[in-house]
Amino acid sequence: MDLGLKGKAMFVAASSKGIGLGVAKALAEEDADVLIGSRNEEQVDKSVSELDKLGKGRVVGHFLDASDARSIKEWIEFGMAKLGDPDGLLVNAGGPPAGKFLDFYDSDWQSAFELTLMSAVRMIKAVLPKMREKGKGSVLSVTSSSVKEPIESLLLSNVMRSGVTSLMKSLSVEFGPENIRFNNLVPGRIDTERVKHLDEINSKMLNIPLEKHKKNEMSSIPLRRYGTTDEIGRAGAFLLSDAASYISGVTLLVDGAKTKTVW
Ligand SMILES: NC(=O)c1ccc[n+]([C@@H]2O[C@H](COP(=O)([O-])OP(=O)(O)OC[C@H]3O[C@@H](n4cnc5c(N)ncnc54)[C@H](OP(=O)(O)O)[C@@H]3O)[C@@H](O)[C@H]2O)c1
Repeated sequence: MDLGLKGKAMFVAASSKGIGLGVAKALAEEDADVLIGSRNEEQVDKSVSELDKLGKGRVVGHFLDASDARSIKEWIEFGMAKLGDPDGLLVNAGGPPAGKFLDFYDSDWQSAFELTLMSAVRMIKAVLPKMREKGKGSVLSVTSSSVKEPIESLLLSNVMRSGVTSLMKSLSVEFGPENIRFNNLVPGRIDTERVKHLDEINSKMLNIPLEKHKKNEMSSIPLRRYGTTDEIGRAGAFLLSDAASYISGVTLLVDGAKTKTVW
């Protein structure tokens, strides 16, 4: 199957590592032109060099702090100057801190709102005019299986990602007539630094050794393992591509059947 990504300008946020890098990798392998970005510029440069070897497209990177409006604007402007108007956007950011209701002050809620929900609003606002001019576009947002089954220790993520899910569905309705697609990519447990960090926190909280905790987690997943960034990356590249031209408003779980809901 030809994903039709060759020469397409794909902007991939929060992508020097983890899931974002997995999606960027799959796009680069398909010869797309790829913009990546995150806060650690040294790591961005390293990942650009790694991605550059994968395909025939151009790969560029720039500083991005997804919680900062000005930084998002600069990152998108950089991408447009280097790669042209965007055909696709992966909305992504680091996860908000772990914790339960009584752990958080108003300022924590405000920060999570800026990082998770407003970053999506701002990135989409910045690319939408060019996609409308082209009469075509694809936007994909990384959320979490917590939008289907709230995760006890991740309250801020549960709440803010539900907002993002609803945003994407609403935009799929509003901009469908202009041929702009909006979907959600939903990791269950993908083997990244974020998941390593959460496993450490949870094993301490539950007072069980880390390896035992990971074994328990994996045994709750029908495919009996964590997913890889390559696996979720391929799903992301597909949804961003023309091969998914009739898929919009969808929330795709990439979770090894971890989420036990029918819909
Ligand atoms: N892995 C999973 O199974 C899983 C499950 C559910 C939800 N998620 C969510 O999916 C997203 C990606 O997770 P991941 O597992 O790939 O995390 P990760 O391995 O920690 O990678 C996060 C990437 O995002 C960048 N980043 C973090 N904060 C940023 C910011 N404010 N602005 C720009 N870039 C930022 C990081 O680089 P810098 O730190 O240098 O900026 C890094 O490149 C997170 O929101 C996470 O909560 C992941």
